[in-house]
Amino acid sequence: MVLRPSEVACATAKVAVVGAGNVGATLAQRLAEKNIADVVLVDVVEGRPQGVALDLMEARGVERHDRIIVGSNDFAATAGANVVVITAGLPRRPGMSRDDLLLTNGKIVLDVTQKVIPHCPGAILIVVTNPLDVMTYVGWQASGLPVNQVMGMAGVLDSARFQTFLAMELGVSIHDINATVLGSHGDLMVPLPRYSTVNGIPIDRFLDADAIARIVQRTRNGGAEVVELLKTGGAYYAPASAVCVMVEAILYNQPRILPVAAYLKGQYQLQDIFMGVPCRLGCQGIESILELDLTESELADLHTSANAVRQNLDKLRQLLADANLKWEG
Ligand code: NAI
Ligand code: 2OP
Repeated sequence: MVLRPSEVACATAKVAVVGAGNVGATLAQRLAEKNIADVVLVDVVEGRPQGVALDLMEARGVERHDRIIVGSNDFAATAGANVVVITAGLPRRPGMSRDDLLLTNGKIVLDVTQKVIPHCPGAILIVVTNPLDVMTYVGWQASGLPVNQVMGMAGVLDSARFQTFLAMELGVSIHDINATVLGSHGDLMVPLPRYSTVNGIPIDRFLDADAIARIVQRTRNGGAEVVELLKTGGAYYAPASAVCVMVEAILYNQPRILPVAAYLKGQYQLQDIFMGVPCRLGCQGIESILELDLTESELADLHTSANAVRQNLDKLRQLLADANLKWEG
């Protein structure tokens, strides 16, 4: 009996992951093994994306999925991708803030976005590289995509950390915890205890103010805590899981409400900035932005967070101009 491929081409979900380092490789593994999409990994280092892709393909013999993972140093391999995820750039080392990565990663995100989007002009772009909120703005400008097609991943990760620390403190299942974090991906992120519950019951019914403040602080420090322990790079398992859930919502048009870095046009009284807010995701990317009722103090914290992003954005804009780099798509 001869088995031939079907003559009718099947439309298949394809994700381009730019940067085949720790986050990119782990994301590729999650996407394939959860049967969410085929993956193309692109990296500047020769052999790295090919090696990761081959290793993941060989695991199919055990994992038993039919997803195709390809590695390349050529952006042409991303042709037709439905979603592009940018993870290229340097991670943090102990003692470094996310903002220390500003110019180096700014140039990388600019360069790779300008190279990848012409091959998949209809894609939804998710930026992961730090400092996240500024890099998402760079990705948007470099891509020329409409704002609903561009977002940054941070809020899902920061909220997952907040949820984890709450579940650990309370000794309850993570299934029963709902908690959300807004604002920039940095020390000034804004966890919202008032919107955090144990199966609908507000967390202040279980925890006093000091305990909540301690968990909020651990959440803000969640990335740095991992960096200090690993010493050679940053977190990647939880970040990859966070991107994966966003990609799945987009590809399968699940109407998920997730906190993502979105372009604000007056929401929360903020303009012309990407920052973490609750959004409805779907196949169009960001389908709507939800405006929560915030207290004066929560809104002030969000604006403090936005001011820090804006300062870095202005700094980077100047650095890129000094280097004669054009960043608009
Ligand atoms: P990594 O160092 O393991 O991987 C980065 C990869 O990017 C490397 O394989 C490198 O060769 C590649 N790369 C560098 N320049 C490139 C270029 N011009 N073209 C193509 N590939 C290029 O770093 P890791 O841990 O994967 O982190 C990646 C980025 O994601 C870092 O900036 C990190 O800070 C950030 N990150 C952001 C998170 C978030 O919540 N938004 C969470 C975790 C990491
Ligand atoms: C994190 O939060 C380093 O941004 C990265 O783990």
